[in-house]
Amino acid sequence: MESLFAGEGSGHDWAHIRRVWLMARRLATAHPEADATVTELAALLHDIADWKFHGGDYEAGPRAARAWLASQGATEVLICRVETVIREVSFKGLGVDTPVSSIEGALVQDADRLDAIGAVGIARAFAYGGHKGRPLHDPAVAPVAHDSFASYQQNTAPTLNHFYEKLLHLKDRLHTAAAREVAERRHAYMETYVARFLSEWDGVD
Ligand code: ADP
Ligand code: NI
Repeated sequence: MESLFAGEGSGHDWAHIRRVWLMARRLATAHPEADATVTELAALLHDIADWKFHGGDYEAGPRAARAWLASQGATEVLICRVETVIREVSFKGLGVDTPVSSIEGALVQDADRLDAIGAVGIARAFAYGGHKGRPLHDPAVAPVAHDSFASYQQNTAPTLNHFYEKLLHLKDRLHTAAAREVAERRHAYMETYVARFLSEWDGVD
C-alpha cells in the first residue's frame, strides 16, 4: 500500500492509510475481543480501490483486497472477514445508514472517519476539492442531505458544503466510545474553523 499510494494527491494517500491503521490499533486497545489481524489488514487495505476512483464501482475495493489477500495465501475465512470490513467502511450520504457487522468493522470505520475530521480532515477535504477542481465555497449553493448513495456519489458541490453534508456529522455516527473521545476535540476545532472561514469570506474578520 505504501508503494502504491505514496504520492497520491487527493487525500487518499499512504499517509492517510497509515493514520487509519495506527488509529484502528489505538482504538482496538479498548476492544481486546477484536481480531488484530482482521483489524490491521482491513485498515491497511480499506482504500485499495476506492469507488470514487473506480467509476463508482463500490465492489472494486473488496474485490481488490480479496485478490491481494488470496495472492498471499490468506485463508477464505480471513479474506471474507477483511472484505466485509472494507465493504462496510465508506460514508454513503447523510441520510444513508452505514451499519457495521463486526467489532473490527466498527474500529476501522471509526478510524477512517476520525481522519476526515479535525485539522487533517480539513486539509483532506480541500485537497480532495482541489483535485476535483471545485471552488472552496459558494454561498449560492446550499448543502444537501443526500438520502441515497447514488446522489452522494454524483455530488459536485463546493468543498465547504462537504462540512455540512458529512464532516460535521461524523462525531455523532461513531461506533466506539474511544473514537467519540478523540472526535470531541477534532469536531470542536472544525466548528471554530468553519466559523472563521465564513467570517473571513464576508470580510468581517
Ligand atoms: P470515507 O472513507 O470516510 O468514506 P471518503 O473516501 O468519502 O471517506 O473521503 C475521503 C476523504 O475525502 C475525506 O477526508 C473526505 O472528507 C474527502 N472527501 C470526500 N468527498 C468529498 C467532497 N465532496 N468534498 C471534499 N472532500 C471530500
Ligand atoms: Ni480512508
